[in-house]
Amino acid sequence: MSETLPWGWYSDSERLERERSAIFARGWQYAGHTGQVEHAGDRFAARAGHVPVAVVRDQDGELLAFLNVCRHRGAEVVRESGNRNTLQCHYHAWTYGLDGSLIAAPRSEREPGFDPAGLSLVPLRLETLGPLIFVNPEPEGPPLAEVASGIPEALAAGGIDLDALAFDRRIDYGLEANWKVVIENYLECYHCPTAHPDFSRAVDVHPDRYELETADWSSSQHARARNGDGSCQFHFLWPNTRINVFPGGPNLSIGPAVPSGPDRTEGFFDYFFGSEVPAEEREELIAFDAQVGAEDRELVESVQRGMRSGLVEHGRLLPASERLIAHFQSLVRDAYSA
Ligand code: FES
Ligand SMILES: [Fe+2]
Repeated sequence: MSETLPWGWYSDSERLERERSAIFARGWQYAGHTGQVEHAGDRFAARAGHVPVAVVRDQDGELLAFLNVCRHRGAEVVRESGNRNTLQCHYHAWTYGLDGSLIAAPRSEREPGFDPAGLSLVPLRLETLGPLIFVNPEPEGPPLAEVASGIPEALAAGGIDLDALAFDRRIDYGLEANWKVVIENYLECYHCPTAHPDFSRAVDVHPDRYELETADWSSSQHARARNGDGSCQFHFLWPNTRINVFPGGPNLSIGPAVPSGPDRTEGFFDYFFGSEVPAEEREELIAFDAQVGAEDRELVESVQRGMRSGLVEHGRLLPASERLIAHFQSLVRDAYSA
């Protein structure tokens, strides 16, 4: 059996600072969906890890993302969803166009030499998968399509037409556990028979039939419903996006896991359904997911307390059943050494 990452890496604030710059300031992260920015002038605030992001639809209908940081003294410019033809900071009312350029700053005419050029909002990369909007604070690097390669194909093969999904609701969560504990818990179903009895009754979690796959920047789990009615897909996209499809009518949930401290993770899931999925089935699916989530909360918060004891250096990974965790941990190590 191989060793896990050192457990000291899961409750250390210096380590988290390194992760913020080496992992969360890079990499494609789910920000929201196109239903939030349907019309020119629509905008919403999001985050890529700790990085504040503004997503805007401009006058030409293009989706743009900016670092949501005012070039004056750093306030977040977009704080709520809405529609206007400018972006105005709530601190001193510096006003930016939908293209991010600074168009007005009160009293600037009294300041000789005030030059708005060079004071535009910093643009960030934005790409979409169907209605799903991803942003990346790093100016260079591979496109989303390359990083997520295989996931849209797997979804299509599972009967999910991304463009036919409509947003249903967002559910927020917070967990007293390091973000890596949360991701690692997601990446194996070795714990399913013990910890998720209802899930394991509904889904075939036998290791001969529960499929695990890795790609360069993602990993996937595929399983079938025991009643023969459909399949599940669970995709992880580096560094912190999870995409779930449950058996039943077309459905997908997606969301980020974001560290708000070394011992705490916050995030949300956005749920999407095909228009034909009735309300009752939606409620059932979301309740089922909430039950699994409550069971997972017990696990990850318990793991966090165990690791934080500081008295054991690391754990062990089963080479087959936990290979997606090994894959994730090697991406973490690569990011630290990059
Ligand atoms: S910080 Fe935005 S206008 Fe001053
Ligand atoms: Fe679980």
